[in-house]
Amino acid sequence: MNNKIKKTLGELREKIQEHNYLYHVLDAPHISDAEYDILFKKLVALENQYPEYITADSPTQRIGATPSKEFKESKHRIPMLSLENAFSEDDVFAFNKRIHEKLQTNKQLTFCCEPKMDGLAINLLYIDGHYTQAATRGDGIVGEDITANAKTLQTIPLKLKNKDIPKVIEVRGEIYMSKKTFHDLNKQAEQAGEKVFANPRNAAAGSVRQLDPGITAKRKLSFFCYGIGYYEGEAVFHSQSEILQQLKRWGFPVNPEITTTHSIEECLQFFETIKKKRENLAYEIDGVVYKVDDLHLQKSLGFISRAPRFALAHKFPAQEQITVIEEVDFQVGRTGTLTPVARLKPVNVGGVIVSNATLHNMDEIERKDIRIHDVVIIRRAGDVIPEVVSVIKEERPKEAKKIKAPIHCPVCHSDVTRVQGEAAVRCSGGLICSAQRKEAIKHFASRKAMDIDGLGDKIIDQLVNTKLIHTVADLYDLTHEVLAKLERLGDKSAQNLLEAIQKSKKTTFERFLYALGIREVGESTALMLTQHFSSLEELTKASTESLLPLPDVGPVVSTQIHTFFQQKHNKEVIEKLLKKGIHWEKPKKLSQLPLQNKTFVLTGTLSSLSREKATQVLQSLGAKVSGSVSQKTHYVIAGSEPGSKLSNAKKLNIKILDEKQFLEFIKNVKTST
Ligand code: IVH
Repeated sequence: MNNKIKKTLGELREKIQEHNYLYHVLDAPHISDAEYDILFKKLVALENQYPEYITADSPTQRIGATPSKEFKESKHRIPMLSLENAFSEDDVFAFNKRIHEKLQTNKQLTFCCEPKMDGLAINLLYIDGHYTQAATRGDGIVGEDITANAKTLQTIPLKLKNKDIPKVIEVRGEIYMSKKTFHDLNKQAEQAGEKVFANPRNAAAGSVRQLDPGITAKRKLSFFCYGIGYYEGEAVFHSQSEILQQLKRWGFPVNPEITTTHSIEECLQFFETIKKKRENLAYEIDGVVYKVDDLHLQKSLGFISRAPRFALAHKFPAQEQITVIEEVDFQVGRTGTLTPVARLKPVNVGGVIVSNATLHNMDEIERKDIRIHDVVIIRRAGDVIPEVVSVIKEERPKEAKKIKAPIHCPVCHSDVTRVQGEAAVRCSGGLICSAQRKEAIKHFASRKAMDIDGLGDKIIDQLVNTKLIHTVADLYDLTHEVLAKLERLGDKSAQNLLEAIQKSKKTTFERFLYALGIREVGESTALMLTQHFSSLEELTKASTESLLPLPDVGPVVSTQIHTFFQQKHNKEVIEKLLKKGIHWEKPKKLSQLPLQNKTFVLTGTLSSLSREKATQVLQSLGAKVSGSVSQKTHYVIAGSEPGSKLSNAKKLNIKILDEKQFLEFIKNVKTST
């Protein structure tokens, strides 16, 4: 009898463990959440009935340890080393030269190239394939015992899978918090008036170092392994990439971006590729790591002080810096929104001198308690406008001044209004305000709108200031004579600009609609409108009610569109633009598009394109992109770290495409039309 129960318990645990692995490590669940819950409840019930058979590696035991008073010390069997850093290609070439000299070879070497995770290093000890202990890196020799906390991470296996399991093995890797989890956590903390974390690394470290493992469990941390420490028994490895393969087979999550290269130049290519992908990755990285792949060569290379000679961390330039806010100005946007901008003491952030940072809006200023003269941490990531991450309160000077929203527009002096329920304050000047007019023209000329190359901000400023143009339609009256007189514009550039203006006359209906700058009408709404109205005339006549049934159009959007086309000024500008020769080919009707009537839902992060881009591609083929999964969904596109949408899709038996399948699908649809 007892043996039978033991066997049932064992089978149940194995099954649950496998589903945990499929869900958390592979992001590919085989069963629905509901089915999983049933299995789990069954195990809990059986264990409640037979508590004497509960094992430490049972999936029910991830959370359950009681809070401790302090962390015990834990000595690593093999020290946890650090890595030497490189900040330039020269540093990388020097590394390559050093290792070649030391190995006395001039042959190309194979490297294992890995993203450098920005989390905290951890050492996991498995004895006879069972999770036994976890420790932080500490000083590299002695860390803190966080066994109960790390056990709550669903991506850390409690029992190793498959064969060749060593008697003892230390597995090393990085615990991290995904960008999404970090933002959600901070949002919650903010709402509860609690302290927010500065970045995902601090959040991960803070969550792991909780005396109550119950708190760690709630923080949704993840883990990627990148190597091993001490081991004894069975397994024999020849290379770093082989170690990672084996770790994967044993059930550990290994970063899918990892690859092997066959020269240092290829390593540099890997660096560039990952740098480009960085924004779209679900987690933070601060560089890449190159490791000589061959373990024999690693051994001959040995160590220098606390770092191995066989590995190098090639870091991205820092994205955060400390500086001082010298002043705060308010910039007027296209629709009159006043955006507070911090004028900073110029500072070099990752190779770019930054002297301005957006403060977003008044709510943000209040929430972060930002004042003029404060010492702040600023962040510049990719192409995004630099922003203030947080204030270093300890360094706040006495003269620090609170920031007040202006009551008059700084440009046209019209009254400023604050719409109830909105964070933004607005200039009420409309087209009287030259700042709003300039922004409208910049928007009209921008790449995704009419794409007038060479019509930069400085030129628009001059054209509006000197009253050479008032509206976007006046652009098409500009002559070479007028343009050549502008500052910063030589003869040749004036000619090029005129040609670009001429060229912009041939456009598409959706670009034109987007360029008009109708409030609430972004690129995808513009595209959708062209799929429902084949002519501008038809659209301008549409009533608010007739717009309402369109996808993603609510009362606000429909009113904005309708009102825009009713205004005399707008009618005049449009008429003049058309008279000047702006034209487009008649767009395809929705009924002619290959994905009409098909609804897609996107979840998780795609590595080769942003979600917006994926949405655009789908919409341009006539598909509807929805935010939630229902019976009406036809396809779910699942990137990495998919949310509950993926499990819902499984439940409803909806076709799921991973990134590769999605790209293939789009290619096929495009070629078949
Ligand atoms: S290898 C001797 N690989 O970087 C090898 N480390 O600066 C030491 N890290 O403490 C580690 N991603 O926390 C390695 N793919 C990766 C890594 C990585 C992040 C961290 C790790 C280590 C620190 C050293």
